[in-house]
Amino acid sequence: MRSSLDAVPVFEPGVTRLGAVSHHMNFNENHFAPLPSVLDVVRETAASFNRYPDMLNNELVEGIAEHFDVAPENVAVGGGGAAVLQQLLLAVVDQGDEVVFAWRSFEAYPILSSVTGARQIRVPLSGADQDLEAMLDAITDRTRLVFVCNPNNPTGTAVDHTALDAFIDRAPEHVLIVLDEAYRDFVRAPEIPDGIRRYRDRPNVAVLRTFSKAYGLAGLRVAFTVAHPAVARAVRKTALPFGVTRLAERAALASLRAADELSARVEAIVKERERMRGALRAQGWPVAQSEANFLWLCTGERSAEFDEACQRAGVLVRAFPGEGVRITVGAEPANDIVLSIAAEFARS
Ligand SMILES: Cc1ncc(COP(=O)(O)O)c(C=O)c1O
Repeated sequence: MRSSLDAVPVFEPGVTRLGAVSHHMNFNENHFAPLPSVLDVVRETAASFNRYPDMLNNELVEGIAEHFDVAPENVAVGGGGAAVLQQLLLAVVDQGDEVVFAWRSFEAYPILSSVTGARQIRVPLSGADQDLEAMLDAITDRTRLVFVCNPNNPTGTAVDHTALDAFIDRAPEHVLIVLDEAYRDFVRAPEIPDGIRRYRDRPNVAVLRTFSKAYGLAGLRVAFTVAHPAVARAVRKTALPFGVTRLAERAALASLRAADELSARVEAIVKERERMRGALRAQGWPVAQSEANFLWLCTGERSAEFDEACQRAGVLVRAFPGEGVRITVGAEPANDIVLSIAAEFARS
């Protein structure tokens, strides 16, 4: 086996199935069932899955370009955000190059970096926030790519445009900055930049978006990057052939058409997020402002215990033993179960 695989952490998703589980709040999925209009398109498309999809996904690329007001040459797609992140890494990283990211952040960063043969440089969070100054200091001549997760998974915090502008201005030109905006649609603070709008002309910034979260297509696997044409071209070259299925492509296009309906769902999730955060803070938990569809609870040494209490109540959350638990905002009754468990923990 390649020696670089020794550094690949094995993804440990925790318990993913429970006999009596009724609430999945562990993977930051959208808890709403697929939109009927999108489901209809998927059903109709299913009749032809004996055929390969369009290898270049031209229709989807054009649909995304139109929706986000960019040129098709700025867009490249892949089978989910994780795949697009891997395509970006494969586009710029050679064996032994360095990839910088904050830690703790999205669990795929260390895995994908190591699989591509890169050295991973983890920069500790400052509280719940990414420390962009320290990340800048961590860049060397060998650094090829930096992940900025905005908002950050699992803490939910986001960096504002002042900090991000300064970071991007000062980062050396040989470094590709991947601005991971998987949760962009849940952002409400006006000072958090929309990466596509703000950094579209920067040749060293690639913005990642996914259809898995706000659009509710996690199981279909489709995502994209908006980047400089040279970067987008390279990302197309590193894609797995036929990696975005016709089902995913048509569902993504139907979802773009259903933007208003989806926005109403996102708004409901944001409202629940704020209700939960308010309740948790009233219980005494120091919950940071989240701009995503989840909240981070610093349960420290009691994280596993908290996780078990949730499981007993039929709820799956994502626990990071010794650190905290990430709770995906779900439907109101499920959120209330977690709130009552948190209240019990706060009291004891
Ligand atoms: C920060 C971040 N980026 C990217 C992704 C990729 O999501 P997907 O592969 O479902 O598109 C996720 C999923 O959890 C995430 O949390």
